[in-house]
Amino acid sequence: MPDRIESLLAELSEAAGPTGFEGPVRAIVRRELTPLADGIETDGLGSLIARLDATSGGEDAPRVMLAGHMDELGLLVRRITPEGYLKFQTLGGWLDQALINQRWRVLGSKGSVLGVTGIKTVHVMNADARGRVFPKDDMFIDVGATSAEDAEERLGIRPGDPMVPDSHFEVFEGSKLYLGKAWDDRAGVAAMIEVVRLLKASGHPNHVFAAATVQEEVGLRGAETSAHAIAPAIGINLESGVAGDYPGISPDEAQEKLGGGPAIFLHDTSMLPNLKLRDLVIDVAKEYGVPLQFNVLSAYGQDGAMVQRTGAGVPAINITVPTRYLHSHNGVIHREDFDRAVMLVAALVRKLDAATVAALRAFD
Ligand code: CO
Repeated sequence: MPDRIESLLAELSEAAGPTGFEGPVRAIVRRELTPLADGIETDGLGSLIARLDATSGGEDAPRVMLAGHMDELGLLVRRITPEGYLKFQTLGGWLDQALINQRWRVLGSKGSVLGVTGIKTVHVMNADARGRVFPKDDMFIDVGATSAEDAEERLGIRPGDPMVPDSHFEVFEGSKLYLGKAWDDRAGVAAMIEVVRLLKASGHPNHVFAAATVQEEVGLRGAETSAHAIAPAIGINLESGVAGDYPGISPDEAQEKLGGGPAIFLHDTSMLPNLKLRDLVIDVAKEYGVPLQFNVLSAYGQDGAMVQRTGAGVPAINITVPTRYLHSHNGVIHREDFDRAVMLVAALVRKLDAATVAALRAFD
């Protein structure tokens, strides 16, 4: 039987929340955080911000922002062909190979509609064409419509409607490995919910703002507005990490291993972590016996980058749950990494009293 956390991860993984259409995920986050928070608001772009008032340190206690993004990669209907096929715009960074011959749910006005990215059959291809990757601009979604009118009238599909991967949560046999879509960043969103639950129980010397952000995959847009609304003193972003523990990937590309514990990014294209905050995370991990991994990525962008450049600047760090096969229909995470990430972040937040935050924010 799945426990409460496995059920929450499964529910968040299967929820449809492509970039810009995060409503179903927001509803879950709101349901989970409402009994725990002292206040819940949404900003003008759709990010949900839950507030937990400091239990010590008074009104002047520092403001600590946690962030995890609700959106996942998706597609959007560009136009419907006269024959009833859907041409699409991608939402987020897809590999063309990951799109082909996959199942999708089109979120139309009459509910969710099943679709598949058609693929030209091998029987009609010459040897040269068989060796080539299908470019996404040549792809289309087949929803079983007979015409544009059939797609619009019977199925309720309109230009601009979003689509999400159709993919179910499963547990690999005899393991704690969870297979599902959208771990980027539902793993981070679930971790944030569980951190809030622990902090509510333990108390904390700071005002905690847990932001479930929108539109991360198209340029960290929700993190920008929610960080502006919160004006934090410290930022902790919770993300899916990049596992490098499978064939064809080298440690110079990605270092995280599933089961090796949470990781911190020491570099990605969008952000360098605050070094004192990095050292504090390492100390807290040691104190609590949490194995900690490091990753140095030559690409990637994450919400912490927007948090750190809010106002006059904010020390920030990105803490991850290692994930295989990001940005596809099927990713894999390890339950123990998730649990340890939650423990680490909750312990870290409990350390962030006014004196510690002042020291983190001081530069020689
Ligand atoms: Co992400």
